[in-house]
Amino acid sequence: MVDSTRTLKIFFATNNIHKYNEINAICKQHTLIQLKFLQTSLVEIQSSDLEEIAAFSLKKCSGLVKNNPVFVEDSGLFIKQLNGFPGPYSAFIFETIGLKGILTLMEKIRDREAYFQSSIALKIKNKVEIFTGRVKGQISQDISATGWGYDPIFIPQSNGKYTFGELGSKKNVISHRYFATRKMIKFLNKYVILVD
Ligand code: IMP
Repeated sequence: MVDSTRTLKIFFATNNIHKYNEINAICKQHTLIQLKFLQTSLVEIQSSDLEEIAAFSLKKCSGLVKNNPVFVEDSGLFIKQLNGFPGPYSAFIFETIGLKGILTLMEKIRDREAYFQSSIALKIKNKVEIFTGRVKGQISQDISATGWGYDPIFIPQSNGKYTFGELGSKKNVISHRYFATRKMIKFLNKYVILVD
């Protein structure tokens, strides 16, 4: 049972239901956080730095909620042998060349190292905090049948042979988003204890 005096209502501004579901599942393990879905299209600047992109998007949308804490999340897949591509362009590249296009670019490449990054920008009491999580892995040879975005071609290091897509909810305890969210939750716990 959640004690309402101990819960903190936070808005997650996003248009991506997958991101929301993942962060909501992580927050649900912590009674302190009550996540609210603030559906909106974010304004993104062109930058190679996901933290900078998230901070800018936050500035543009934080006026949508009065006084309540609000955060945005920017993420991307960075492939070592492609010099970090698609990185900050992950959403656009997914919609254009897609997973098949990425595997074609990787056809003759043996070193398939890549990482996912998630950067959260949170506004609370007029201050902005940034939290980043990364997870290393490999780009698979084939596309697995399940998962959203690049999940069907990303094999996290800690799980040997299965893609994020194949891992289902297990992804949620090893993902870039999990590590970024966990940092935010830790910060919020400290914050509430300090100001309560
Ligand atoms: P953005 O954060 O809205 O710029 O979009 C980042 C893009 O990276 C998403 O649209 C996905 O294509 C991809 N992406 C980010 N995180 C994940 C993930 O956890 N799984 C699969 N694809 C992801």
